[in-house]
Amino acid sequence: MSQVTLTVNGKEMSADAEGRTLLSQFLRENLGMTGTHVGCDTSQCGACVVHVDGVAVKSCTMLAQEADGAAVSTIEGQAADDGTLNTLQQAFQDHHGLQCGFCTPGMIMSAADLLKTNPKPTETEVRHHLEGNICRCTGYHNIVKAIMAASGQIMAASGQDVSGIAAE
Ligand code: FES
Ligand code: FES
Repeated sequence: MSQVTLTVNGKEMSADAEGRTLLSQFLRENLGMTGTHVGCDTSQCGACVVHVDGVAVKSCTMLAQEADGAAVSTIEGQAADDGTLNTLQQAFQDHHGLQCGFCTPGMIMSAADLLKTNPKPTETEVRHHLEGNICRCTGYHNIVKAIMAASGQIMAASGQDVSGIAAE
């Protein structure tokens, strides 16, 4: 056991962790941050994606002790303090980019990572970026549409004008 201290969504949080404790497990079980989901624990599904020092990481692939001292962003930190959804979250809601919602935290965190480095991705680039994120409900179309909308773009395949949603 050793103490692990993270800055989670701007707030310093500490707890003891075993050497084998995964970052995903640490966030959920030790810090009570259950917005990060665990679908597989084997690096397949992407439900557990968070940002560690600004880089998107499947948190089931990293030990909590490896993350000691890092700044971690999770889905809980995406909305404003008053609950106002950020642009990506609002776009997922507006374009029905979720059904059961299990994959959504990872989808949002992966999409945020994409838009940070590529603010106007093509549909192909969005689909490529989401290769590590599995959704068992939506068929992906509305997820891609939401991400295109959040980037202020019209998705050609849908032909729907989504330009009213401004990019962050
Ligand atoms: S729980 Fe981490 S990739 Fe599935
Ligand atoms: S919305 Fe159900 S798994 Fe994606």
